[in-house]
Amino acid sequence: MTREEAYSRFEELDRKASQGGGVAKIEKQHAAGHMTARERIEALLDKGTFCETDKLVNHRCTRFGMEKKQIPGDGVVCGYGKIDGRLVFVYAYDFTVHGGSLSETNAAKIVKVQQQALKCGAPIIGLNDSGGARIQEGICSLAGYASIFYQNTMASGVIPQLTAILGPCAGGACYSPALTDFIFMVNEKSHMFITGPDVVKAVTNEVVDKEELGGAYTHSTKSGVAHFMFNTEEETLMQMRELLSFLPSNNMEDAPIVPCTDDVNRTVESLQTVIPEDPNQPYDIKDVIEPIVDDNYFFEVMPHFAKNVVIGFARLGGQTVGIIANQPAFLAGVLDINASDKAARFIRFCDCFNIPLVTIEDVPGFLPGTAQEHEGIIRHGAKIVYAYAEATVPKITLITRKAYGGAYIVMASKNIGADVNLAWPQAELAVMGAAGAVNILYRKASDEEKAEAVKEYEEEFSNPYRAAERGLVDEIIMPRDTRSRLIKALEMARNKNQSNPPKKHGNMPL
Ligand code: HXC
Repeated sequence: MTREEAYSRFEELDRKASQGGGVAKIEKQHAAGHMTARERIEALLDKGTFCETDKLVNHRCTRFGMEKKQIPGDGVVCGYGKIDGRLVFVYAYDFTVHGGSLSETNAAKIVKVQQQALKCGAPIIGLNDSGGARIQEGICSLAGYASIFYQNTMASGVIPQLTAILGPCAGGACYSPALTDFIFMVNEKSHMFITGPDVVKAVTNEVVDKEELGGAYTHSTKSGVAHFMFNTEEETLMQMRELLSFLPSNNMEDAPIVPCTDDVNRTVESLQTVIPEDPNQPYDIKDVIEPIVDDNYFFEVMPHFAKNVVIGFARLGGQTVGIIANQPAFLAGVLDINASDKAARFIRFCDCFNIPLVTIEDVPGFLPGTAQEHEGIIRHGAKIVYAYAEATVPKITLITRKAYGGAYIVMASKNIGADVNLAWPQAELAVMGAAGAVNILYRKASDEEKAEAVKEYEEEFSNPYRAAERGLVDEIIMPRDTRSRLIKALEMARNKNQSNPPKKHGNMPL
């Protein structure tokens, strides 16, 4: 073979691999409103940085005529590149090749990038669009999934793992995304379910369409499976880049510090009046979060699920922080099962990746009632306690108003291990609200006696001063000074060095 022949042979193979399932399949993918795997990677990564690995790997299946259906690269595009100049690994299911179904060799390709990402300490991003296990391969495909899940688990807490669901994701295939840290979905374009509508109908007689069963809206609002929902694939990929900007590449690094142009001593006058005069009136906790963080920029996670707790990333003085805040504007900010799960998992993510926790507290307690008790609020609420207690990152808490009962304890109280507890003058640290307390203590008293007792209880407990006298609140601050005080507390705790007793792993309530 001449040199020219060698080059053209390579170019021909490479061109064939680049085309995936071919022009007709690509057109079908576009007609369905989807990008191809390679287009997605191009959009996701910094321009010109993608290096594709295993582009010529092919499946080895010889059943059901598969030996005649060989496409170099098979049904997944793998490799590495950069996002904002930082190394990331990526794999994208190619729906144009046998519906992106997972062959034994596709699985091996994915495992290879998973292992390399772990060795290099770089985030890994999966772009899912797949018909699931390659039916022609049977158990070999299933075993491939098992290997991917195993790597997902090994990488958990070591490198950030992000998944976008950009088409179908069915059956046990859902468990790889579920094992990653964040799932992104595209509204009306992506679906996740353990069994599709046909199986649901056959087994349970329930009639449901795929959107209702496992669309982005369902998983963002009801199941809590998805963390983000956007309207287009392009927006989804851009927001994945944005999320990574807040994160370190691995658990041995700190998140990148972004030069801060927002004055760290900036006072925020609006906070002086954000708490209504009537303590039973709601307010939007985002009116507290946004004005205090750098450039008012709060990157909210799971905005549509369990809205009684708000979680997300922001920066204070250029440093990434994870914010966990009760939301008085939704269910009065009460903690329930879903809010507990949402907060606990986020706290644990931040702790894995050295991201300080800023807790903003205004919570009347845990949601009472049989529905919550029977579904296990005790078990779920315990997750927040566990997550805060085991977290060794800096933990700064601000109590804006109510900090009642068990919910006071769990929301990063001093004795659960918070480094700094700040409170506004309106803060009320008590076992419960005054009216509830008096109804228990003075059940048989007259209305006048009760009113007197409420006054007495409020004077005694509906303030931050009893807690301050015992050192359970480190400092009472004016609301307007919150930004600078949080930044100072974070600076103080920056070099905190704490570790928990050595163990194989704890037994977190699940
Ligand atoms: C092999 C598959 C496939 C699969 C799709 N294809 N799924 N090939 N194995 N699992 C092929 C189709 O034969 C077709 O090939 C091409 O991909 C495109 O599929 P279409 O059906 O034409 O596309 P569309 O109408 O958009 O429907 C997409 C789909 C549907 C909803 C994903 O294909 C579908 O329901 N597929 C089966 C899904 C499924 O039940 N998977 C197994 C889940 S169980 P041609 O050559 O005609 O273009 C599972 C277990 C995992 O995954 C367990 C892990 C632990």
